[in-house]
Amino acid sequence: MKPGTLVSITLVLFWLSVGLVASGHRDLGLAAAAASSFVTLLILRREREFARRQKESLELALAASGRRNRELDRLRDLSSALLGGNDLATLNRQVAQAAAELLDAEGGAIMLMVEEGRFVRVVAGSGPLLAAVGALVPVDRSLVGHVIINDEAVLVDDMESDARNHPHEQLTGRLRSAAMVPMRSAGLVVGAVCAYNRKDGRPFTDHDRQLLQTLGDQVVLGLDRTSSLEELRRNERMLAAKNKELQRVTQLKSEFLANMSHELRTPLNAVIGFSDLLLTEGLGPLETQQREFLEAILRNGQHLLGLINSVLDLSKIEAGRMALSLTPCDVREAITGAVTDTTSLRAAKRQQCIVDVGESNSLDVVADATRIRQVLFNLLSNASKFTGDEGRITVSAVRTIAPMPTGSVLLGGDPSRLATRDVVWVSVSDSGIGIKPEDVARLFQEFSQVDSSSSRAAQGTGLGLALSKRFVEMHGGQIGVESIYGKGSTFWFILPVDGPPKERSER
Ligand SMILES: Nc1ncnc2c1ncn2[C@@H]1O[C@H](COP(=O)(O)OP(=O)(O)OP(=O)(O)O)[C@@H](O)[C@H]1O
Ligand SMILES: [Mg+2]
Repeated sequence: MKPGTLVSITLVLFWLSVGLVASGHRDLGLAAAAASSFVTLLILRREREFARRQKESLELALAASGRRNRELDRLRDLSSALLGGNDLATLNRQVAQAAAELLDAEGGAIMLMVEEGRFVRVVAGSGPLLAAVGALVPVDRSLVGHVIINDEAVLVDDMESDARNHPHEQLTGRLRSAAMVPMRSAGLVVGAVCAYNRKDGRPFTDHDRQLLQTLGDQVVLGLDRTSSLEELRRNERMLAAKNKELQRVTQLKSEFLANMSHELRTPLNAVIGFSDLLLTEGLGPLETQQREFLEAILRNGQHLLGLINSVLDLSKIEAGRMALSLTPCDVREAITGAVTDTTSLRAAKRQQCIVDVGESNSLDVVADATRIRQVLFNLLSNASKFTGDEGRITVSAVRTIAPMPTGSVLLGGDPSRLATRDVVWVSVSDSGIGIKPEDVARLFQEFSQVDSSSSRAAQGTGLGLALSKRFVEMHGGQIGVESIYGKGSTFWFILPVDGPPKERSER
């Protein structure tokens, strides 16, 4: 009966009793009043019952929403732990604890498949599972193995009486109830997340299973993310170690080369000096064969000295110990000097040399004159070496403007930023064998020689161009080549008139 009907009955009875008493039917009136009071009592009791039920369901709803809030908070904590890049062990531990807390259980655990799927390892555990961390559980003889093999969640109220459970001393000691959910990564089961022993003895529910599933997803996300992060960090550490080792080896190599070169130069200078002295015949006349032998000693000695000097220069540059001695100098003078130094090479092949440097424009640059002459010497000697008898060699230089890098890799600047600068442009052209387009890229690398019989026949070690490139770049300049195979080559370099960009001069 609705509460409204009861109220109406009470009112009717009340007014009836009043009417009956007023009309002299006192007994009947009192009976009606008693009935009205009884119905009123009935109403009050029903109201109280109703309020009690409402309070109960409100409390239940509040408890559920509190639980839900706790679950959300815990999951949010785990997500931020994930994003925070915690290591895998910490993350696993946090998820195992969260599983126990959220499912109101005594312990939680994360198990991962190992040993090609034959075992699961307890990688993290809390409560009764703490002692089992690190333990290996055979997949074919455990409840967790059943979960993994069949890829299905399991909720068990009494583990001991479950036929799928094979007691395992480290896992089953005091375990009663369990909730276990498989974890999947890229569609494959990789392990399980579990909770054991519900504290209040209630059975685990489908909601608990869903919660474990969410936790398991977090572990897998973390696994994927942390493993790739760990992999990245491992690689970084390995690279850093290798880099350090490489630097140490380079340093050692440079020091070794510098010392060796120094040690070799001293006796070599004696060989060159004494053979030169003997050739002057100041100590007596020489027979033709004696002269030839002495000339061979001198020539080879000088070649060896050139090589040692190149190696020494390169190792100094690599070790960052090559300093330029910058002064205002005239490129015209450097060209004249280098042309004179290479006269004998051209004379032997009756080659012609044309120098086209004009007269009016200044070819002054701020540079290390010795190094510029070294570059020119190498380009001119290459031109002679790789040009046949009676070939033609032309050296040109002009002052112009060109877009130049404002910094270079060597100088620690940005080579892609260009600025227009006053420059001196120098070229050495020959009518020699030329270079195939596919060989051009490696010409400027150390010890690189184009593999042709003529190149191999010519003397050299393949260091000249590599050194020239380093020297030109240390000046903030550029070097390059244009060639037509079989017709000839033009090697060129550009030097900024004001010298290297600031970074170097400030050093
Ligand atoms: N003018 C040129 N014409 C054709 N090939 C050239 C010319 N200049 C250089 N090369 C090629 O580039 C290679 C590298 O030259 P680089 O000057 O570095 O070494 P090298 O002359 O062989 O030895 P080094 O200069 O150390 O005595 C040469 O071996 C040759 O194959
Ligand atoms: Mg050379």
